[in-house]
Amino acid sequence: MRKILYIDVCTRPDSRTRVLAEHLLSYLEGEVTHLELFKEDIRPLTSEARAQRRECLKQGSYDAQGLKYAKQFAEADIIVIAAPVWNLCFPSLLLNYCENIAEDGITYRVDDNGNHEGLCKARKLYYVTATGTRNLDPVFGYGYLKSLFSMLGIHSSACFSAEALDVPGADVDMLLDICKREIDASFNFPSRDTMQFEPISSDK
Ligand SMILES: Cc1cc2nc3c(=O)[nH]c(=O)nc-3n(C[C@H](O)[C@H](O)[C@H](O)COP(=O)(O)O)c2cc1C
Repeated sequence: MRKILYIDVCTRPDSRTRVLAEHLLSYLEGEVTHLELFKEDIRPLTSEARAQRRECLKQGSYDAQGLKYAKQFAEADIIVIAAPVWNLCFPSLLLNYCENIAEDGITYRVDDNGNHEGLCKARKLYYVTATGTRNLDPVFGYGYLKSLFSMLGIHSSACFSAEALDVPGADVDMLLDICKREIDASFNFPSRDTMQFEPISSDK
């Protein structure tokens, strides 16, 4: 069965981002692991933690800070991220998570010439977000993660965003519905990008 890793960095109980992510997840078949970052012990890396991680890996163990997240990420078939826009970007805990999953030998490797090769199994990243305002530059959120995960071997991605939810007078239900219809359309009328992803859904 396909492994779907649902990385959730939403905090509000009635999070709009999470509503959208769960709508998207209803299209995906497989075993979903819901990783709620705010309930996990995710800390920034330090040089000591990095050294401990290298030592553990030498001994074939994943028992040092963050390594279990790196292994889980590398083994997932599909990555779904739910991340609201915070301060023009995403909640910084997601960046801490990324720092923890980036490990030479697990999610990527570097050859003797210094070239990177991604080692992650996932064929697709879905990034779901919600914003209070409009016209934000995606380079700080989705764009950043798309590039980072591409270095880890995940080359196909899609972003779904409900925007301007906090603008006075906004019809929030309608804005969420528009985003849901975009999600529906991407699964019902797959683009070339989504179709490239089809072969691994043969277990449906
Ligand atoms: C700490 C914080 C920072 C935010 N920063 C921004 C921002 O820079 N730009 C923006 O458009 N909205 C910003 N917002 C608004 C949220 O992106 C918006 O309300 C979004 O819908 C929240 O998603 P949620 O409903 O999933 O929690 C911020 C909200 C919070 C709580």
